[in-house]
Amino acid sequence: MQMSEAIARTQPKFRVGSDEHKRLFCESFVSTHVAFEPENLPWPELDPISLARLRAIPIWTMALEAEVNAGKMLSGFAQTEPDPLVRQALALQGYEEDRHGRLLSYMIAKYGLNVKPIAAVETPTRQAFVDFGYNECVDSFAGFGIFKLACDARILPESLTSLFARVMLEEARHIVFFINWIAYDRYRRGYGSPPAQFVPAMLGYGGAIVRRVKGGAEVSGDGGGDGNLDLFGDVMRDLSLEKFLRTAIAENDRYMEDFDPRLLRPRVIPALARAALGVSNVVSYVREKLLSR
Ligand SMILES: [Fe+2]
Ligand SMILES: [Fe+2]
Repeated sequence: MQMSEAIARTQPKFRVGSDEHKRLFCESFVSTHVAFEPENLPWPELDPISLARLRAIPIWTMALEAEVNAGKMLSGFAQTEPDPLVRQALALQGYEEDRHGRLLSYMIAKYGLNVKPIAAVETPTRQAFVDFGYNECVDSFAGFGIFKLACDARILPESLTSLFARVMLEEARHIVFFINWIAYDRYRRGYGSPPAQFVPAMLGYGGAIVRRVKGGAEVSGDGGGDGNLDLFGDVMRDLSLEKFLRTAIAENDRYMEDFDPRLLRPRVIPALARAALGVSNVVSYVREKLLSR
């Protein structure tokens, strides 16, 4: 697809913040919900290497905490929403986040993963949902790339990673829903013009990036599992920032293509990634030229 086509497809065909916009982003979110229960999924038995790799991934405590807290926060926040359709969609996202928590809990118990106790739950406020939404935009973009790289490198069997494909799809639905909801909600509050949306959006993304950088430092210090990096030698060997960015951008584009072209998409993190990739390519090109002299 041409870039101009991609840009045209992301332009809403009606006023953002209108009732038509609200119906579209809520109804498309609700109608694409898929019913399943984590315990009914075909969880595979793992060989010793796969089990060791799964146990060595240091994110399970943070992931479980985030999903369980999000489920409770969203369910509570949905109750404060006066519009029945928006309330239904918010509550559904709360249900899906809680189900992500149950899915992780099931996996943690089945494979004996080392997970610390869950921290306190966040207050179910609009600000908590806004912070969470921007966090998800950052996490999902990175997650799309990491998941694809992990699947390609086969660090875990396809019988296990395929179970998480549905979670990735749900996270893509969540960030598209959030980006439309926040634009709609700001219009509803009288802050709908592009300049009035720009500043809080940049603050939202900036806060999410800072939180993720801090969270990443905590996770890398955590060690997780037995800390044996050789378990991931196959993946780490040819991993570079450029490869990660290229993969995340391509995967993000692929997920976003499946949504109604009239819906808004998260654009800031993909744009930052494209800019970083551009800079990185220029640096590599210049370095190659200088070395070849
Ligand atoms: Fe989730
Ligand atoms: Fe989510």
